[in-house]
Amino acid sequence: MQKEKEWFEHWFDTPFYHILYDYRNDDEARHFMTNLVDHLKLAKNDKILDLPCGKGRHAIFLHEKGFNTTGADLSENSIKYAKQFEKAGLNFDIHDMRNPLKGSYDAIFNLFTSFGYFNQETTNIKILKNFKNALRPGGHIVIDFLNLEKVIENLVPEQHISKKGIDFTIRKNVSDNFIIKKIIVKHKQEVHHYIEKVQALDLDKMKLFTKAAGLEIQEIFGDYDLNPFNKSHSERLILLMK
Ligand SMILES: C[S@@+](CC[C@H](N)C(=O)[O-])C[C@H]1O[C@@H](n2cnc3c(N)ncnc32)[C@H](O)[C@@H]1O
Repeated sequence: MQKEKEWFEHWFDTPFYHILYDYRNDDEARHFMTNLVDHLKLAKNDKILDLPCGKGRHAIFLHEKGFNTTGADLSENSIKYAKQFEKAGLNFDIHDMRNPLKGSYDAIFNLFTSFGYFNQETTNIKILKNFKNALRPGGHIVIDFLNLEKVIENLVPEQHISKKGIDFTIRKNVSDNFIIKKIIVKHKQEVHHYIEKVQALDLDKMKLFTKAAGLEIQEIFGDYDLNPFNKSHSERLILLMK
């Protein structure tokens, strides 16, 4: 019997996910990556892994900036789309971040809340260890996560959004240490139900995982301009690790 798909294998592989989050676009990716690679002082031709890369918005720009870039993701549809942009120094592969990595990199980026998807918190440590084992000496890991306090404070229990002829109803709540989003998609005559489920992780939890993986947090930023993190005000929790 075929195993039922997990929510993250399902939702992110749909066109609806990309339509709902279309404001997380190339401009945002360029802005953040410009600030980040300047800050990290990465050298031309350094090897960067963007995992998970989605359709490749960060990876494509990193390659344009002169880095040898690999994007990887579990979503077959996203990687199929990203592969049209492949060229020398820019590759895309299907990879599950819970599995060990093959190459070695000067920087590994995990961007836009791509962490904390799994039922066991120990899986977070496993993922960080996979990143650590694929890092070259002196390399950097960047985890760009949500700021839990801000998300909980601004949580809207129900929202209706219409985009491209699709009606989305989004119901959010926090339960059993997960931020849960139920997404109902009405498209033509069809109704689809999806779920997004991210562990409610704050900085203290992230520090525990980092330590358990044998890594060190070097800097903590609160937004894509790389301002310092402030748990009451920051949009993001961005961790730079070594
Ligand atoms: C919120 S999206 C962010 C994608 C990309 N970083 C961006 O900013 O556009 C999360 C991504 O994680 C991917 N993903 C989910 N579980 C994964 C796993 N176990 N291994 C690799 N990628 C995974 C999804 O397919 C999706 O593309």
